[in-house]
Amino acid sequence: MAIRHFLTLRDLSSDELTSLTRRAAELREMQHKGELFQPFKGKVLAMIFEKSSTRTRVSFETGMAQFGGHALFLSPRDTQLGRGEPLPDTAKVISSMVDIVMIRTFGHDLVETFAANSSVPVINALTDGYHPCQLLADVQTYEQHRGSIAGKTVTYVGDGNNMCHSYINAAVQFGFHLNIACPEGYEPDADILKSAGDSVSLMHDTLSASEGSDLITTDVWASMGQEDEQKKREAAFANFQVNDRLMSAADKDALFMHCLPAHREEEVASSVIDGCQSVVWDQAENRLHAQKALLEFLLNQ
Ligand code: CP
Ligand code: NVA
Repeated sequence: MAIRHFLTLRDLSSDELTSLTRRAAELREMQHKGELFQPFKGKVLAMIFEKSSTRTRVSFETGMAQFGGHALFLSPRDTQLGRGEPLPDTAKVISSMVDIVMIRTFGHDLVETFAANSSVPVINALTDGYHPCQLLADVQTYEQHRGSIAGKTVTYVGDGNNMCHSYINAAVQFGFHLNIACPEGYEPDADILKSAGDSVSLMHDTLSASEGSDLITTDVWASMGQEDEQKKREAAFANFQVNDRLMSAADKDALFMHCLPAHREEEVASSVIDGCQSVVWDQAENRLHAQKALLEFLLNQ
């Protein structure tokens, strides 16, 4: 049987994704009750980080420990990857020793190359193209607070980046409508957008994009690797802040999410991220439970 990978939300079926977020909620309950659940004693997750991380590293490493397994942190600085060992060779070697691999890197083609040469499942823990693990947690969090996300309207305000691309895929897979409000010149990839058909509307006006929305979400203006563009982007995104005015255009029960790390008073006003509609701390915690559900799914294949 072909090895299952999780490089984008399109790698799993809608039903599989829905079961994962449901399972994540169960795992959350079990963890909160202090139940010991260790089905993966002796299993090892290799975590390759070519970019910084707080949530992703802590959630994957903790998740494996809670499951009774082990996680290995690997950075290019301390491995031969940083000295130019070819990625296919690295993938063959690492996957011959561990049970599952997680990678955070730059080009999306790098995780594809790794997966093509891996004998075990590979998880995309963020590339320049996508951040699918974050979306598992986001959907779980919406459902924890408001029930099924199917049929709802979600508004993504900001850059047409990896988060935006994963929101586009999530709209198709989880059955919600996505409004994207971005500055001109910062649109998501045209092919990814096209693949979502009428599940997604692209706009340039934040207020009309937010009208009646059930969830407002945003992300940083300059992603990892774009630090040099910070100033230019601050100017381009100046009218794309999620603030109280924008939240009041949304449904009165709308939630606010941000994958974090956040820059208060840039992409989001403090009053919103620290306000009563914000669920960002549950969202961050749910990275742990959602990825445990994902690890369980992939390790049990
Ligand atoms: N949201 C997210 O992926 O956070 P980290 O960069 O801290 O892992
Ligand atoms: N778009 C951001 C997400 C961080 C979790 C980045 O790639 O830096």
